[in-house]
Amino acid sequence: MIERETLQASVNGRPVLRRVQIEPTNRCNFTCGYCRRAHWSRPEGDMDLERFQEVLSYLPEVPYIHLQGVGEPLLNKDLPAMIRRSRLRGARVGTTTNASMLSKKKAKALLDSGVNRINLSVDTLEAADFSRLRPGVSMEKVLANISALAELRHSGGYEDVGLTFALVAVPSAIESLCSIITLAAELGLDEVYLQNLNGSFLPTDDPVKESYGDSDYTYYNEATQSAQVLASRLGIRFLPPAMDVPDYSWRCRWPLHGCNVTWDGFVSPCCLQPDPDVLHFGNLFETDFEKIWSSPAYHHFRARVEADCEPLCAKCPDRYGQMWHPTANPFAELQP
Ligand SMILES: C[S@@+](CC[C@H](N)C(=O)[O-])C[C@H]1O[C@@H](n2cnc3c(N)ncnc32)[C@H](O)[C@@H]1O
Ligand code: SF4
Repeated sequence: MIERETLQASVNGRPVLRRVQIEPTNRCNFTCGYCRRAHWSRPEGDMDLERFQEVLSYLPEVPYIHLQGVGEPLLNKDLPAMIRRSRLRGARVGTTTNASMLSKKKAKALLDSGVNRINLSVDTLEAADFSRLRPGVSMEKVLANISALAELRHSGGYEDVGLTFALVAVPSAIESLCSIITLAAELGLDEVYLQNLNGSFLPTDDPVKESYGDSDYTYYNEATQSAQVLASRLGIRFLPPAMDVPDYSWRCRWPLHGCNVTWDGFVSPCCLQPDPDVLHFGNLFETDFEKIWSSPAYHHFRARVEADCEPLCAKCPDRYGQMWHPTANPFAELQP
């Protein structure tokens, strides 16, 4: 078995924070049925720049900050300024967007902000499926925006900004996998990242809960293997999750070295469990981060994650996967 490496690094028994995900807003202009937003009743709002600066000052310096939560980050007009301020703290910075509002002006502002990676959410290249899965703005518009961003990255000398297609592994995404990888290569993108559908919060009879992860591993595995071959040939990095490889050594370690901060300051354990009504360890605007991170509750939670016996994680579809392989280092800067 491959030895686990530095991911478990800690100082005096206290895990080192390497990655923070901060939510610029939880408002959205899309109504995706598989998204947590469609199934909760949290208050909506934005983190303004002043509050963002406060959050940065409360947190220790970390190598990577991802500006995304449950909501569309581009709806917050301060996103480029947030990126700039995070970069000034020495962090590499990424964001994830539905790309619907990525006008040329906004794309340039984003690239000029010093962002290091942009994840672009596109699950399918079938227009009807896109409208069903990601209702808001047409697929044509989203793809035109992505194409213009990729062109600007190339012509404007922003080649070191990583561009990734982010897919949720619903059946239409698996069917579109090879076309999306081909499009990524045509546009000069770097990476295609496939994430399992997290259906833990969806009603059991919800039609979007259907996922190859629940039923047909064979089809999924064949599709991702062919996609991997194509991606290697086209020079695209392809990151699929493991659906049926419950290998203990590949388990997720997100909460051991990362945390999620909501627009209103709640600290939750990871990007797949960002709902403070389900679990949070404190609020940054009320409690010192150090106290939150070192609290007995957080410590016990991490111990359960480390021992692979946290009930909340048992429901997570990305609990085991290639991105968690000890050699893959999920906290490398180009990982989602
Ligand atoms: C919550 S969205 C927020 C950013 C932005 N609004 C977007 O859609 O790109 C972040 C990523 O999570 C994905 N996502 C949403 N709901 C999901 C779910 N139930 N399971 C897995 N991924 C999900 C989205 O497709 C997107 O790539
Ligand atoms: S665009 Fe993103 S945040 Fe908005 S509903 Fe869809 S997945 Fe959720």
